[in-house]
Amino acid sequence: MRSILKIELHMHLEGAAPPSFIRGLAAEQNIDLSGIFDRQGGYAYRDFPEFLKVYEAACTVLRSPRDFYRLTRAVLAESAAHGVIYTEAFLSPDFCGQRDVAAWREYLAAIAEAASDAEAQDGIVMRGIVTCIRHFGPEAAKETAICAAETAGPFLTGFGMGGDETKGHQGDFAWSFDCAREAGLRLTTHAGEWGGPQSVREAIEDLGVERIGHGVRAIEDPALVRELADRGTVLEVCPSSNVALGLYPDLSRHPIEPLRAAGVPVTVSTDDPPFFHTTMTAEFEQLALAFDWDVSDFNTVAETALEAAFCDEQTRARLRKTLSSDRENKDLS
Ligand code: ADE
Ligand code: ZN
Repeated sequence: MRSILKIELHMHLEGAAPPSFIRGLAAEQNIDLSGIFDRQGGYAYRDFPEFLKVYEAACTVLRSPRDFYRLTRAVLAESAAHGVIYTEAFLSPDFCGQRDVAAWREYLAAIAEAASDAEAQDGIVMRGIVTCIRHFGPEAAKETAICAAETAGPFLTGFGMGGDETKGHQGDFAWSFDCAREAGLRLTTHAGEWGGPQSVREAIEDLGVERIGHGVRAIEDPALVRELADRGTVLEVCPSSNVALGLYPDLSRHPIEPLRAAGVPVTVSTDDPPFFHTTMTAEFEQLALAFDWDVSDFNTVAETALEAAFCDEQTRARLRKTLSSDRENKDLS
């Protein structure tokens, strides 16, 4: 499973920080973060609101562009070790200079430098998606969108929204998504994770996003499922995240399989891998166990992700070549 080449579209950069990395920064800064860890040293939370609190507490020790260089380099090395050849990471100006554009530019430069070093050394390609944080409210999101619009380019290619989906409506953030779209950024938002099918409809109708983060609760509305299939709206599904946060009791009850069977394009991602004790390899292993997915299913998922990736066409063509020559080599061996 590890050697299957993978494309990941939904991973939060800070959410991918190993607990040991955060503990190390806390020790350097003399900050007591012991309350956010369990006895085994992992992140400790009981539900989604607590997860968000622990996540934000961990982010308080990520203080400089250099911290983000080290974080990005470590995260990409780990992804590459699991066969990931392309990853899109959510980046948060909220945690990178508190949405100040000049500071954000410095953080983004450090992240992009780490990505370039990872591409040269580990062969993994990264693109960034700026994310605003829903429970910080629409005014903060506007500042985040301006950071994104000011730095849109070959590396920073998308804009999205994470955070607490139970707060407000997708449409409250329309100004920010319009601003990002006008800057040439591609759009996605978390919807249909903690909000029901209506949240997915609002994401499409009120924000005009082309992909949906999670989207799994669309399964509760058969007409919406048909619509997603007809429109070819790609879902960034994060199975272990949904189980770890208590959305579904186990993978056998997760809707990824019925969504896929109904013709909805699905992709597979880790979301915040150390928080959910997962990796891309583990996601694939779990899907093989629960739903009998085989190499051809994983190939289909990789192709879906590649076509939906927020990268330029030259990069897409290069990645397509990497995937096809890897398959040819494996068929020969
Ligand atoms: N930020 C990081 N992980 C998230 C998730 N699963 N849902 C919403 N916001 C997030
Ligand atoms: Zn997410």
